Amino acid sequence: MVREKIERLKKEKNAIILAHNYQLPEVQDVADFVGDSLELSRKAVESDAEIIVFCGVDFMAETAKILNPDKKVLHPVPDARCPMAHMLLPEMIEEEKRKHPEAKVVLYINTTAECKAHADVICTSANAVKVVESVESDVVIFGPDANLAEYVQSRVPEKKIIPVPRFGKCVVHVLFTREDVEKWRRKLPHAKIVAHPECRKEVWSLADLVASTGGMVRNACKHDSWIVFTEKEMCYRLKKVYPEKEFYPARDDAVCLNMKKITLKDVYRSLAEEKHEVNVPEEVAVKAKKAIERMLEIV
Ligand code: 13P
Ligand code: SF4
Repeated sequence: MVREKIERLKKEKNAIILAHNYQLPEVQDVADFVGDSLELSRKAVESDAEIIVFCGVDFMAETAKILNPDKKVLHPVPDARCPMAHMLLPEMIEEEKRKHPEAKVVLYINTTAECKAHADVICTSANAVKVVESVESDVVIFGPDANLAEYVQSRVPEKKIIPVPRFGKCVVHVLFTREDVEKWRRKLPHAKIVAHPECRKEVWSLADLVASTGGMVRNACKHDSWIVFTEKEMCYRLKKVYPEKEFYPARDDAVCLNMKKITLKDVYRSLAEEKHEVNVPEEVAVKAKKAIERMLEIV
């Protein structure tokens, strides 16, 4: 019922629904496109819809608005926030820049718009290595995810990466441990392990594949069984794309509660009442947009 009402409203209002791979199954099912942060940013630019309903966490909806200042971007539950994105403040970036004036600032897309306005370029987990390789400096200030920073450092050893803050992390991905990897290796030796680079080094260094959530979708065709070291809902997404394959969530408690705040009813209300509209102050948006567009030009 709610789903049909949403479909009708989408047509009437020339709206699209974009959803992140960690959204509730019912929300993924009603979306026009489901993907990772990079794919969703690209979709937001390509779309000619007048309204974008963004089902994900705050920084994702903000990024869609920054890239589409003339469109109405709606975030069904503004309280759905990424805690890691809020671990970094503009003052911290400026302090690090004073200490390393030669450095370039590469910020993970999981940051506030205010922080993005202080970056040279943005990256996502799908392109962080390429973005860091491409910047014209051997010293890179990188934040807020220290685990992703360490992963990028391992792939780009010729540059010096300075994490800001020192210990920024995703509360969901730090749950995974080396013991989890060892347990699954014993239990299902035939299965491959895929890990998100927000996991700790002790996890991603033992994985068969390290990938963004979009990279997981693209690469899952290569094997029949996977143990998935990222947010639990990813397995719903993977199973939908590859019904004949097996996907095991590495931990049942790896749940991003903020991603789960958006229900189908919230999506309906958001479209029907056209709220909650995302707005980014123009001077912040203009600077942040440059840093995001630089990323989109690189990869
Ligand atoms: P992806 O861009 O890989 O989907 O990651 C976003 C995120 O928040 C992971 O926790
Ligand atoms: Fe943020 Fe972690 Fe949730 Fe991703 S899984 S949105 S990084 S809290």
